[in-house]
Amino acid sequence: PTRGPLRGRHVVVSAGGTREPLDPVRFLGNRSSGKQGYAVAAAAAARGARVTLVTTADLQLPTGVESVRVETAQQLRAAMLEHFDSADVIVMAAAVADFRPADYVDTKIKKGMAPGDDSAPEIRLVRNPDILAELVRHRGDAAGPVIVGFAAETGDAKASVLEHGRAKLERKGCDVLVVNEVGSDRTFGKDENTVHLLLQGSSRVEDVGPADKRVIADAIWDLVETLV
Ligand code: C5P
Repeated sequence: PTRGPLRGRHVVVSAGGTREPLDPVRFLGNRSSGKQGYAVAAAAAARGARVTLVTTADLQLPTGVESVRVETAQQLRAAMLEHFDSADVIVMAAAVADFRPADYVDTKIKKGMAPGDDSAPEIRLVRNPDILAELVRHRGDAAGPVIVGFAAETGDAKASVLEHGRAKLERKGCDVLVVNEVGSDRTFGKDENTVHLLLQGSSRVEDVGPADKRVIADAIWDLVETLV
C-alpha cells in the first residue's frame, strides 16, 4: 500500500465547515461534518503520502496525519497558502463560508430589556475570498500542486448536477472536481456519499457510490495518482 505515486508526496487536505464568529458565543456555520475530508486524508496516508489536514472539525485524526486546527475562512486560507509551496496535491474538501459577518462584536449581542422592545439586530455580511480559485491563480502557469475541488450541488436531475459541476470546474480552474449531490437527507454527517469525478480538459465522468466515504476517497486518489 505504501508503494505508488503518492509515496513520499506532500498532500494538503482541508476539511469541515468554517465558522464565522458574530460575537464570543455565536457563529455562522454550515452542515459539513468533515468526514469526507478526513477519509481523503486517511486514504492518502495509507498510500504513503505525508498528509497535512487543515480542519475545523474535531473528528478522530487518521494515523499518520498531521493536523492544523482552524475556524474561519481567513484562517483556512492562511494555512493553505502556508503549505502551498511544499504541496504536491491540494484537496479543498472544506465547506468554506462564502460570507462572514462584516463586524465582530467582542461582547455578547443582547436583546433590548425595555418593556415592549422587540427589536432585532441586522447582521451585515461581506464576501469571503474564494480560496480554491485563489490557489489556482497562485499556481499560475508554473508547475505546482495538483488541485482538487469539491462541489455540493442540490437538484434531483443528475444532468443538472453535472452541468453545474462542469461550469464550476471551468470557473475555478482546478484539475479535478468532486461533485456531490447534497440534500436535506443526503451526504452531510453521513458515512456514505455519491459523487461524480470531473477531470479538467476531459468530457469523461466517473460516477462513484453510493459508497462509504473511504471508498469515495480511494476513487479520488486513483484518479489523482494519474496526475501527480
Ligand atoms: O463555489 P463553491 O462553494 O460551490 O465551491 C466549492 C469548492 O470551492 C470547494 O472545493 C470549497 O472548498 C471551495 N471554496 C473555497 N472558498 C470559498 C468557497 C468555496 O475554497 N469561499
